[in-house]
Amino acid sequence: MMDWIDPKLVPKRRLSTGEESPCIGMGTFGSDRFSAEQVSAAVAGAIRCGYRMFDCASVYGNEALIGKVFTAALEEGVVKREELFITSKVWNDMHGQGDVLLSCAKTLKDLQLDYVDAYFVHWPFPNYHAPGCDGDSRNPDSKPFSVEEFMKTWRQMERLHDMGLVRHIGMSSMTIPKLEAVLPLCRIKPTVIEMELHPCFQQQELYDYVVAQNIQPIGFCPIGSPTRPERDMTPDDIADIQTPQLVEIAKAHGIHPAVVCLKWAVQRGQIPIPFSIHEAEYASNLRCTTVDPLSQQEMDALRAVDKNCRLIKGQVFLWPHAQSWHDLWDEDGTITQ
Ligand SMILES: NC(=O)c1ccc[n+]([C@@H]2O[C@H](COP(=O)([O-])OP(=O)(O)OC[C@H]3O[C@@H](n4cnc5c(N)ncnc54)[C@H](OP(=O)(O)O)[C@@H]3O)[C@@H](O)[C@H]2O)c1
Repeated sequence: MMDWIDPKLVPKRRLSTGEESPCIGMGTFGSDRFSAEQVSAAVAGAIRCGYRMFDCASVYGNEALIGKVFTAALEEGVVKREELFITSKVWNDMHGQGDVLLSCAKTLKDLQLDYVDAYFVHWPFPNYHAPGCDGDSRNPDSKPFSVEEFMKTWRQMERLHDMGLVRHIGMSSMTIPKLEAVLPLCRIKPTVIEMELHPCFQQQELYDYVVAQNIQPIGFCPIGSPTRPERDMTPDDIADIQTPQLVEIAKAHGIHPAVVCLKWAVQRGQIPIPFSIHEAEYASNLRCTTVDPLSQQEMDALRAVDKNCRLIKGQVFLWPHAQSWHDLWDEDGTITQ
């Protein structure tokens, strides 16, 4: 018998448009480890378990199978379309004139939908790498961030919004300098921004900046992505779910440390989008938003866990004259050229 969590009990976030989204969603990136069949089967299970938000992307290579799952759930009456919050993203090789529209059309066809609830620019540059490539591979055509190029892409996002094909538009893996440069130029501002957020990487300054702009942060890798691809692993990375503070709080609540990460995320205010293909895991990830909150003391203890430990460094998107992955993140407060 499948675990069921009443979606009405799952807290909601009010977006700047006045529309609501669930406070938690399910990720669908198989990390080169889980097949499209496994991920789409998990989405099918998760809808029946009570999930209403799903974070998709064309580059995850599984939208066609996930689309079949959505259609079956809608046809069987498990859920109504308006109860779902489905997101997708345009990949780096589809930023050119007209390409964003094409990419969105393909995603809608694959997901078998008339619209997505939010559509993101997946990375803020058109720097492409082949799926599954190793961490040292570089594309000689890659370039540093360009406000002009980004805005050409964003104009197409705005057009998709005008056409009603995407209900909200969003950015991902941005920095404060990049946002300061592009936000004043947006005719339609982003409603949502995806960023890496987990207890050991809280990005407090960027988080506060995004919230102050009335934009909802969505946190990816909320558990510290223990199954991320090899190319995204380095010896200095810290495993959130093994830190003593998380282990201790988890013990006190009788839950896995992964679930502590999600309670912290929801109580802080971001929307975490944890991934799992295992029913017991994804059910407990959803249930944890409805019961047994962390105390203020525990929230304070978790604030102190931050190690500024970025896991998705993005080195495969570097341009030829770049020094290191730090160049992608504008750490000195200006856009690195
Ligand atoms: N915008 C972007 O650029 C971007 C970048 C990265 C990710 N994302 C999105 O964010 C989503 C989540 O990130 P992620 O998949 O990298 O990492 P994550 O959600 O932090 O970690 C996923 C892993 O955590 C483990 N896990 C999940 N629930 C658990 C539980 N209750 N107990 C114990 N272990 C649990 C699972 O490992 P086991 O299978 O070993 O149990 C699972 O594979 C992605 O799927 C994707 O949709 C977006």
